[in-house]
Amino acid sequence: MKIIVIQGPNLNMLGHRDPRLYGPMKLEQIHQNLETLAKQNNFEVEFFQSNFEGEIVDKIQECIGVSDGILINPAAFSHTSVAIADAIALAGMPVVEVHLSNIFAREDFRKKSYSGAASAGVITGFGPFGYHLGLLSLMQIITEINAQKQQEQK
Ligand code: DQA
Repeated sequence: MKIIVIQGPNLNMLGHRDPRLYGPMKLEQIHQNLETLAKQNNFEVEFFQSNFEGEIVDKIQECIGVSDGILINPAAFSHTSVAIADAIALAGMPVVEVHLSNIFAREDFRKKSYSGAASAGVITGFGPFGYHLGLLSLMQIITEINAQKQQEQK
């Protein structure tokens, strides 16, 4: 079972970026923690980060037939990108969106997430632990989908 983790713009600068909002943890450490959690649950994870909207759309499309689910933080594109929301909608697999900060407690323009509306669910405001919660949720959804498929085959 495979999950692709997609990280949007400026998340490569975690650790350097306003630590009051995003905490001190670097993206590499978040990914190491996810790798450990995935392994414990017999899932494989792959990581991708881009500062470019089109590359994120391409990556979501490339997940089709390769991945069982997507964990995504589209960062600022969450609030602007219909293209990423459309890609999530056509992917045909569960997608869970994560935000480190609580997007509902910030500026009004951050309160809407196009990609979040296209996702199975959104986890926001728990810092790096949100990725942990997001991966757990996604693994649970994928496990339930597979159990359902097996049931239907009987
Ligand atoms: C973010 C929230 C976005 O509003 C912001 O543009 C980011 C990070 C978060 O993880 O809290 O870059 O997605």
